[in-house]
Amino acid sequence: MTKHIGILTAGGDSPGLNAAIRGVGKAAQNNYDMRVIGIRDGFRGLAENRTVSLEGGVLSGILTIGGTILGTSRDKPHKMKIAGKNQDMTDVIVENYQANHLDALVCLGGGGTQKNALQLKQKGLNVITMPKTIDNDVAMTDVTFGFDTALGIATDAIDRLHSTAHSHHRIIVVEIMGHRAGWLTLGAGLAGGADVILLPEIPYQLDKVAESITQRVKHGKNFSIVAVAEGALSVEESVVLHSIQQRVAEAESNNDRKARKQARAELKQFEARHADHTLLLAHQLEEMTGLESRPTILGHLQRGGTPSAADRLLATRLGTACADMINEGIGGVMVAARGEGAEAVALEEVAGNKKLVPVDHPWIDSARRVGVSLGD
Ligand code: F6P
Repeated sequence: MTKHIGILTAGGDSPGLNAAIRGVGKAAQNNYDMRVIGIRDGFRGLAENRTVSLEGGVLSGILTIGGTILGTSRDKPHKMKIAGKNQDMTDVIVENYQANHLDALVCLGGGGTQKNALQLKQKGLNVITMPKTIDNDVAMTDVTFGFDTALGIATDAIDRLHSTAHSHHRIIVVEIMGHRAGWLTLGAGLAGGADVILLPEIPYQLDKVAESITQRVKHGKNFSIVAVAEGALSVEESVVLHSIQQRVAEAESNNDRKARKQARAELKQFEARHADHTLLLAHQLEEMTGLESRPTILGHLQRGGTPSAADRLLATRLGTACADMINEGIGGVMVAARGEGAEAVALEEVAGNKKLVPVDHPWIDSARRVGVSLGD
């Protein structure tokens, strides 16, 4: 029996998505004679039944292209804005899966996508995912595709910031993406020779950051590069955030809707205040050290453009392994990167678990040993 598969990309885009679509799609067609369709704009496209054939020459020439040819969205099956109102579209998605005679739905995405995929698995769909995100924070996989490309871009940015910081005797505070994980900032900070690296996993003390810069000046280095993760927090902020998060969790376990609504609103307010933290940090460091200081926010530059060779290889390797697993009847799993190969990991083990930087990670140890301040 010919198998039919659908492929969608969900969450923030990331370099390597097209390589992964091509990997799974070509292997499914060339090796197993499967029929392959693409679904537009993530789970929204499946709810609206917007599909495209990925047969013929469609998958040729996309390996090196950034973004996703299918489009993406952050829509969740169980909470999708339709005509301005949140609606649960799960049943519609199940109907459309059946209407397209799908034997498997391949979802390429990060942490949020793994959770959404698990919900669809629990509704009886045969879902198989691949780990994609520049944040590298998906649990149970060695690495995610997109990370290596973003690492290269952020490292190159730090290299470039060095010459201007040095010429003007300035501090440059560079904000790097990663959501609540510090992989990208730590990797780029270490590879780019940042003097200070601030991560969500290690709350920082402002006076220690300022002191490390002042010490550099005393040793004749009157410029500094501070690499700060978008999710980095001072010790004080981390205490506040932790208490709000605890209240959200308590309200959820007590099923107390009012308390949950209130705690979630506080969380939103906290996040809104935190959005400007890099600008504030640059200002505070200027005041405390007497050195001129400038903020630089790399933003979506880190997600754009052509994928690195390492990401193309990873995405192709996981994509072809995904086709093999579908052929073998394996489903309800994420195709994880393990060593040089790939491994099927049950979605239950992945969804809801974030892979943060362990504080004893070798990169952290190396950063400390080459004299980088982590602000602690
Ligand atoms: O998850 C990838 C990521 O780029 C994060 O690093 C960042 O926090 C977020 O997406 C930005 O999302 P958006 O593209 O929706 O602004």
